[in-house]
Amino acid sequence: MPLDQGVPPPFPSGFAAATIESAKEKKKQKQQQPAVRPAPGTSQLDVLAQAYKPEFYETVARIMALRQKYVEDRVIFVESREMQSLLLGLGARPEDFPRMQVVSNRLYHDPTLPFRRSRNGRFLIDFDSNSLRRLEFQPFTLTAEEDFKRHDSGQLRRFDEVQNELQLNSAFQALFAFKAMVLHGVATIHRPRLAYGANRWVCTLFNLRTVTTPDLVGEPALEGVHSDGVDHTMTTYLGSSNMAPNSAATFMHDMDETTGVQLDDVSPHHILARVQHRNFLDTLMIVDHERKHSLSPVYAVDETKEATRDMLIFFTRKPVDKTHVSGSIDSLRPHRDMPMEIPLFVPGSR
Ligand SMILES: [Fe+2]
Repeated sequence: MPLDQGVPPPFPSGFAAATIESAKEKKKQKQQQPAVRPAPGTSQLDVLAQAYKPEFYETVARIMALRQKYVEDRVIFVESREMQSLLLGLGARPEDFPRMQVVSNRLYHDPTLPFRRSRNGRFLIDFDSNSLRRLEFQPFTLTAEEDFKRHDSGQLRRFDEVQNELQLNSAFQALFAFKAMVLHGVATIHRPRLAYGANRWVCTLFNLRTVTTPDLVGEPALEGVHSDGVDHTMTTYLGSSNMAPNSAATFMHDMDETTGVQLDDVSPHHILARVQHRNFLDTLMIVDHERKHSLSPVYAVDETKEATRDMLIFFTRKPVDKTHVSGSIDSLRPHRDMPMEIPLFVPGSR
């Protein structure tokens, strides 16, 4: 299967002369465009304003080392303390961390899952303008063809939308900036009917709370072994309440594991890794079309009370072709009522 060669790596080493010429032309055009900056008077992430701080380059070097590990292992797990330091290095404001920890208190019912509360939002990582932009609302679907087998596979789901309190949070925006830096130029096995020539990535962001009650077990992945129908999935832990320590471990399986198999029935020889998000900002990133994954349920410490687990899930893939099942619900138009655009920094892309 072809690998994604559409985007040069951050540190190109040898291109044909014509490619260099057209790259030079593109670079010239890009330099003529004014760089995107956050709306004036806001406290959003301005990664370009960090460029005068020596510690910014240390942060970039550490993220590039993680990117190299991602290229080699197809998965990285970044622990809380390291992630917090990287986000601060990218310009996140310390006071935005506690705000992000409580944002899931204002989630509502999920369209298809009784044990989940949810919101989502669509964003564009645009490497032509080197910016992250909020996109307009679209319904959402995942199908069995994308290795997602559940009672609601193929159904059009409409989620409540992520609000400004999350999308304008600089720590949240720094998570996106981190993801963009890691995925840029990483070659992956292609999914069918995605536009790999595009220099832009569509990101569907879910803010999810899984809830276990005395009557109902909360399943972070009711679908069992699956993949998310995208190129790169990133999951960040925000917090939990009354959650037992053996809850919600993530298992990664090779692609030969059967989609839809429940965790109790998986083949041990297909398991490649296990990680567990335990602390605020613990973050997993995985090449979604090269590894399947599954999760164990959320268990309560006090079984007479509700237990919750709050996460951010960042799905990222190339835009789809018209023939893709999401071909008519993949708009790249900006969100009119909740606009957001901030600059991204990618080494070697300017
Ligand atoms: Fe998933």
